[in-house]
Amino acid sequence: MNTNLDASDGKVSVQSLTKIFEGDHGTVVALDRVSISIQEGDFVCLLGPSGCGKTTLLRIVAGLEVPTGGEVQIGGRTVRGPGPERAFVFQDYALFPWRRCKKILSSASTRVECLRKNAEKYLRSLSE
Ligand SMILES: Nc1ncnc2c1ncn2[C@@H]1O[C@H](COP(=O)(O)OP(=O)(O)O)[C@@H](O)[C@H]1O
Ligand SMILES: [Mg+2]
Repeated sequence: MNTNLDASDGKVSVQSLTKIFEGDHGTVVALDRVSISIQEGDFVCLLGPSGCGKTTLLRIVAGLEVPTGGEVQIGGRTVRGPGPERAFVFQDYALFPWRRCKKILSSASTRVECLRKNAEKYLRSLSE
């Protein structure tokens, strides 16, 4: 994926983002200097053929993947990992199927403490 728009002033600012995977089957350039600027309230769809780098871009914005080059800023702050102000819905199952809801919640990191507390409250309300 190679998209070049002015990216300097967005709420979400993707700046010259590059991601190269070194795998068993060789080197894959998933993102090649992608720049996107997203303003507050924008509704954005990423469209492109399978394998063009959509998920990789979203995973970097979510802080789940580290870029090879460039950076993502949210509200002027560089993304360095996941954070409670960003939610990510996975394409496939991302839970531990052998665990109960309560155990899954208790393994959530302290960075999402407030989300976890709300979810626990919701689970309690279901059993009342
Ligand atoms: N962890 C990984 N290791 C090696 N290659 C990967 C990895 N993740 C994605 N890729 C490759 O990067 C490219 C972009 O993948 P992806 O972002 O999943 O595309 P899309 O979501 O647009 O279908 C593909 O060629 C894919 O095979
Ligand atoms: Mg995908």
